[in-house]
Amino acid sequence: MNPTIHELMASLPEQVTHHIQHLERMRQDFVANVSHELRTPLTVMHGYLESLLSQNRDETQPWKKIFTQMQQQTIRMENLIEDLLLLSRLESQDDENAISEAVDVTSLLKAICHDAEEFSAEAKHHIKIQADTKLFLLGNSSELRSLFSNIIFNAVKYTPPDGHIDIQWHYVDKKSHFSVCDTGIGIAKEHIPRITERFYRVDPARSRASGGTGLGLAIAKHVLLRHQATLTIESELNKGSQFTCVFPLQRTKKIS
Ligand SMILES: Nc1ncnc2c1ncn2[C@@H]1O[C@H](COP(=O)(O)OP(=O)(O)OP(=O)(O)O)[C@@H](O)[C@H]1O
Ligand SMILES: [Mg+2]
Repeated sequence: MNPTIHELMASLPEQVTHHIQHLERMRQDFVANVSHELRTPLTVMHGYLESLLSQNRDETQPWKKIFTQMQQQTIRMENLIEDLLLLSRLESQDDENAISEAVDVTSLLKAICHDAEEFSAEAKHHIKIQADTKLFLLGNSSELRSLFSNIIFNAVKYTPPDGHIDIQWHYVDKKSHFSVCDTGIGIAKEHIPRITERFYRVDPARSRASGGTGLGLAIAKHVLLRHQATLTIESELNKGSQFTCVFPLQRTKKIS
C-alpha cells in the first residue's frame, strides 16, 4: 500500500518538512488573498449592473441581454470566490477538530430538501427523506449544512427529470450514517477517486452549464475530515450513485 502523506512527511528530514509546510502556507495564503481582493471589484460591478437593469430605461434596452449575461457571470464569480474562501478557512484552521454543538440533523436535512425541491422545480424529482429524529451530531452546523447540501444538490443536478433521490440518516453499528442515493447519470469507475479534487468534473461543460463551481465535493471532503468522518461513493453509469458519510461514535448524540 502507498504511504499516506503524513507517513511520507514523517520520513523526511526536519528542514525539508519545514520548507514544505512553509510552501503550503504560502499557497493557502495566496488563494485566500486573491479571493479576498477580488471580492470588492466584483461587488461594485454587480451593484452597477443591478441598478442598470432595475432602472429599465429606454436607452439601456438594446443592451439588456448583455447586461443580464454580465450579471449572471458576476454571480458565478462571486460564488466561486465564496467557495474558495470557505475552502481556505477550512484548510487553515489548525486543529483538525470542528467545534462541537449538538446539531439537529433531521431538521437541517428537511430544510435542505425544501430548497432542493425548489431547485428541482420543473424536473419534478421525487425526493424522499428517512431520518432518525433523535439522532444528533456533535459538529459545526454551517459546515455540515455545506456538506449535506452539496451532496443532495449534486443528486438533483445529475439526475434526469422524474428521477428518485433517497436521503437517509440512521444509526448503525455505533456510527451515524448519512446517505444519498439517486437514479441519475452515474459516475464511471475511473473518475470516482478524483471527484473530490478541486475543480474536477466528469463533464466540465455540463457541470459549468448547471452553475457549479466544481469545489463542492472538495469542501465536503474537508468538512468530513474535520468531523473524523469518511465518505464512500458507489456508482454505476446510467443507473445512479450513492454517497455515504459515516460519523464516528464520539460525534454522535442520541436525544431521548
Ligand atoms: N450524484 C452525482 N451523480 C453524478 N455525478 C456526480 C454526482 N455528484 C458529483 N458528481 C460529479 O462530480 C463532480 C464534482 O462534484 P462537485 O460537487 O465537487 O462539483 P459541482 O457539483 O460540479 O459544482 P459545485 O461546486 O457547485 O458543487 C461533478 O462535476 C460531477 O461530474
Ligand atoms: Mg456540487
